[in-house]
Parts: sequence; structure tokens; C-alpha cells
Amino acid sequence: MRITVLGCGYLGATHAAAMADLGHEVLGMEIDPDKRAALARGEVPIYEPHLDELLARSVGSGRLTFTDSYAEVAAFGDLHFVCVGTPQQAESLAADVSQVEAAFTGLAKHLDRPTLVVGKSTVPVGTAERMAEQLATLAPAGADVLLAWNPEFLREGFAVEDTQHPDRIVIGVQDSRAEKQLRDFYASMIDAGTPVVVTDYATAELVKVASNAFLATKISFINAMAEVCEATGADVVDLADSIGYDPRIGRRFLNAGVGFGGGCLPKDIRAFVHRAGELGVEDAMTFLRHVDDVNQRQRERVVHIAKAMVGGTLAGARIAVWGAAFKPDSDDVRDSPALWVSGQLHLSGAEVTVYDPRANTTARRSFPTLAYADSAVEACHDADLVLHLTEWPEFREVTPADLEGVVARPALFDGRNVLDLDAWRSAGWTVRGLGRR
Ligand code: UGA
Repeated sequence: MRITVLGCGYLGATHAAAMADLGHEVLGMEIDPDKRAALARGEVPIYEPHLDELLARSVGSGRLTFTDSYAEVAAFGDLHFVCVGTPQQAESLAADVSQVEAAFTGLAKHLDRPTLVVGKSTVPVGTAERMAEQLATLAPAGADVLLAWNPEFLREGFAVEDTQHPDRIVIGVQDSRAEKQLRDFYASMIDAGTPVVVTDYATAELVKVASNAFLATKISFINAMAEVCEATGADVVDLADSIGYDPRIGRRFLNAGVGFGGGCLPKDIRAFVHRAGELGVEDAMTFLRHVDDVNQRQRERVVHIAKAMVGGTLAGARIAVWGAAFKPDSDDVRDSPALWVSGQLHLSGAEVTVYDPRANTTARRSFPTLAYADSAVEACHDADLVLHLTEWPEFREVTPADLEGVVARPALFDGRNVLDLDAWRSAGWTVRGLGRR
């Protein structure tokens, strides 16, 4: 099929490249000229495993091209996927849907033949209904322009895998013709057994935010348990392992630590709380405020623990931080707990040196006043304390012997609860985790 993808961030770029790889003809629309030029050369402007090969293959085959023109997009495609971002508004908890609105209005004016527009962006419930009205009003083809809402559940670090092998396809429609077109489009995935849920717009929109709200709740639940573990001498990793064996609970997303960050979970739960308020159901969503608060408290707790571990005064303390990305296998530092903690320590007078295998460059752009090192060991030179805040596998490889004669004081804090604390202790280090014995 001939499709277009509006907005080529990590969601749109991955969708565009993966769909071209499946054999579709794809035109990507990206208004940022630098990003567009890089993508057209087959270069991925973000770090996302395997996306570079996929993009290079798709661009090289001639099946994936890029533009900044809505008229070209409308002329090219029979299916248009809207993948633009919905960040948190600067002055409120609400999502900023201006990019979605701009994409729909920009495209609609040029839609002069039967076509299907598919929203994939994460939006406040009710947006699809409004966008359907926009299309009906603005598109010259009027009622022949259909809308479907088809949320995306890909995880950064696994974006290619999740796009090629989604665990479900959710289709929100008002018209069975739209359902049929999307079923045809995803036929290879559906034939391979991917479950399909066909529903209304509002449910499709809610599925996405409800998924992220549930994941965030799981993380804050175990982080709250970590605090209780600390007060009682219990161990949160043993606790998570044990409750996780119950298949109704499950072990995944029960890793206690410095908390969740990134461009999705934090802003999605806040936008959900805000939207619930607009809908008059804020009481039902109050718990999500607590989920957010528990998450924020984890970051603050790490700062307090670091202060205690350097003897009660951060001013002048030298602190090495392992990790800047919000999670491993990403260079994304949006709302990153590791960088938030680093920034706070720095503001309190500590000398902070950060090392991240992929995110030093993106981190430096947001936090230029921190120092950056080129390796985990280099970051630790003369350090009074080492903080492990993003669980890249290479940090698990560092041994106490590697840091002998490097650090000023052998003190380590594991903010992701994945290091072998006993091994460090037996080498004479003072070590702490969150909610760990
Ligand atoms: C999340 C969802 O997992 C995806 O399903 C969704 O499509 C995506 O948001 C989105 O809305 O676009 P992502 O932001 O890539 O994906 O990251 P996650 O893997 O969910 O991790 C989020 C944060 O939670 C990270 O900071 C991670 O370190 C933290 N986390 C995760 C924990 O602290 N503990 C855990 O047990 C798991």
C-alpha cells in the first residue's frame, strides 16, 4: 500500500521504516529540516537499537522517502498515520496536542479523494472525536475521509521489535470500512496471530493511557514497598521475586529503584489526571497523583541517601553518576531520574561527573554544567561516592578491582537494584540499594 507517516520521531520513524520493510511504499512527513535530511540519508537522529539498519534498508530500497509538504502527503497516500508528539504543557499537567491539531488541519485541506487517516499519537480521550469533526469540515472529500485511532505501545530500546511484532493491535473506528482497511494493512501481523481489538474511539484512546497508568502504578507500588522494606530490614528484590511468581501479579515492572522517567509514563499519567478532572471524574484518578508523588519521592530519597553516604554535606563532595538516559538502550534523557538526581546534587554543591554509554551528548545539551566522562571508570576518579542510576549492562561488568586506586572512598549506591552488593561489600565497599538489605 502507499502510506504516509506524519511526524518522524522515534514512533513515526520506526513505524515508517518498519512498514517500508514490509513492502509498503512510505512517505514520511517531518517538519524539522535537520531531522528530515538525516532520515533521508538513512541516518537515525536518535539511538534506538536496530533502527539504523532498518532505516538504511528502507531508504536504500527507495520505498521510504521524506517530505515537508502536506500537499505531497495527501497526493501520495491512501493511509495516513499521525505519529506526532504530545508532550506535557509547560504550565499545566495537560498534554499539549497542538502538533496533532496542526497535522490534522494541515493534511485535511488537501484530502480530495477517499482516504483513511489513522491516529497513533497518545492523546487525551475525546481528541479522536474532535479530529473526526475537523476532517469532515475541512477535507474536500468530506465523508469519504475516514478516521481510525490505532494506539502504539512500543517501548524505547525495543521500538523495532515492538513495531514488527506488536502484542496487540487496537483499532478504534466509527465505520467498518476503516476497520477493513486497517485489517488489510496489518494482514501479515494478524495472520501471524497478533490479537486485534476493534472498538470505539474513546476506548482506543483510553487503552493507551490506561496501559501506561497501570505500568506506572506497578513501579510506584514496588517503590513504596521498598520504603517499607527499608523501615523493616526486609529486602524488596526478594519481595518482588516472591510476589511476582503469582501469575496474577507477574514479576515484570516490579523493579524498585530511582523510579520511572522518559517522554511517556510521567507525562501520560499527568495528562490522564488532568483529563479526568475535565471529565468530572478526578476522584477516580486521585491514586495516579500518588503514583506520581511516590515516583518523585524516590528521586528525592536518592539525593538524601547520597548526602548521608558522603557524610552529611554535599558541598564539595565528588560524586560519580553511572547513567543519564531514562533507561538503558536509549539516549533519551527526557524526565530522566538519573539526570534529575545529578542536577540536584550539583545544585547542592557536589561535583558531579556523569557517564552514560549513549546519552552523554543528549545529557550535556540539557545539563551543560555537569561534568561528563568517557567511561564508567573515568567518571569515578577521586569520587567520594558512585551512584548507579541507569541499568546499562556494562555497569554490571565493573568490578571493585577496576576501581581500586581510582575512587577516593569506596562507597556505592545502586539505584536500580541490579548490582551484586555482596561482591562489593566483600571487597570492602560501603554499599546501599533502595529497599535492600
Ligand atoms: C512506555 C511503555 O512501556 C510503552 O508500552 C509505551 O508504548 C511507551 O511508554 C509510550 O507511551 O510510548 P518507555 O517509555 O519506552 O515505554 O519505557 P518503559 O520501558 O515503560 O520504562 C519507563 C520507565 O520506567 C523507565 O525510566 C524505567 O527505568 C522505569 N522502570 C521500568 C522501573 O523503574 N522499574 C521497572 O520495573 C520497569
